[in-house]
Amino acid sequence: MEKKIWAIGGGKGGVGKSYVAGNLGILLAQKGNNVVLADLDLGGANLHTWLGVSNPIKGITEFIERDIPDIKKLLIPTDMPGLRLISGAKDGVEIANMKHTQKRRFVSALRQLDADYIVIDLGAGTAYNTVDFFLLADTQIIIVIPEPTSIENAYRFLKNSFYRQILHNSEKFRMKSTIKNILRKDNPFNINTPKQLIAYLNKLGGNAAVFIEEQQQLFIPSIILNQVRSEKEKRIGVAMEKACLKYFNLNVKISGYLDFDETVRQSVIDREPLAKNSLESVPVKQLSIICEKLLQEEKERTKKNNLLSQLAL
Ligand SMILES: Nc1ncnc2c1ncn2[C@@H]1O[C@H](COP(=O)(O)OP(=O)(O)OP(=O)(O)O)[C@@H](O)[C@H]1O
Ligand SMILES: [Mg+2]
Repeated sequence: MEKKIWAIGGGKGGVGKSYVAGNLGILLAQKGNNVVLADLDLGGANLHTWLGVSNPIKGITEFIERDIPDIKKLLIPTDMPGLRLISGAKDGVEIANMKHTQKRRFVSALRQLDADYIVIDLGAGTAYNTVDFFLLADTQIIIVIPEPTSIENAYRFLKNSFYRQILHNSEKFRMKSTIKNILRKDNPFNINTPKQLIAYLNKLGGNAAVFIEEQQQLFIPSIILNQVRSEKEKRIGVAMEKACLKYFNLNVKISGYLDFDETVRQSVIDREPLAKNSLESVPVKQLSIICEKLLQEEKERTKKNNLLSQLAL
């Protein structure tokens, strides 16, 4: 099986990214997969505490600066079978300014690990590092809670990620300078949203239209709505899906809901991830449904990509 990278991000702090990343990692391991949880919340890494692993000695800095050229040496075992951790806990501010080539090298090293799944927990915000790691993943997950600030940050995260993806990929279409001009805040084309950008490139036609079509296909984030307290709040998921299509012209899918549940907080205090011992609890049942959905979506995407690459031969 081809290795898969899942990244969990989403703009706002404290919405449940680490909770979801950690528990999805555990659930994937329980299905018999070899899983590596990568804590890339550089500057705020805390998955080790929550997994009950003692303070990591080595971090990603050692790999980036080539003191430890072998990424395997960063792997920390956990007491859960099939689950290991790579922690960014020892990494400081300097690593927050990693060059894109360094990030690529790090992610391709992650892909070479002997693992079926790499689950990346990202930090809050839309810093380039966070967005770049998000974009380098095969499954891109955004955690949102039903609060206007979180929703606003999720839209910002989506918009910035799409722009950044476009910028990264523009070079091979020889469109870098065009895209750079368009993405300037004071651009003369009056382009302020992904939708306007897509329309503009489509109007240019030719290479530009092919490029933007490909970028829309490549952009595949899923939303998980966390800390839901009512049916009314649940509807925010579908509303966001519709809004992304209407205002951004982007196909963002809602992959599921997680209720607000007091036991989640307690599990953090107890350092006992719910998926470890509370398999019959509502939060774990809901997480399992989401995990299955993500696996299904991944399967469909792989099938589609295989078909496309066969057609291209
Ligand atoms: N579904 C939920 N029900 C109840 N409480 C929750 C739920 N999800 C998360 N929480 C609470 O929110 C807190 C923050 O969660 P978590 O650390 O996963 O957020 P985060 O998005 O990773 O934050 P940061 O951006 O700081 O890394 C948890 O400690 C927990 O108390
Ligand atoms: Mg976190």
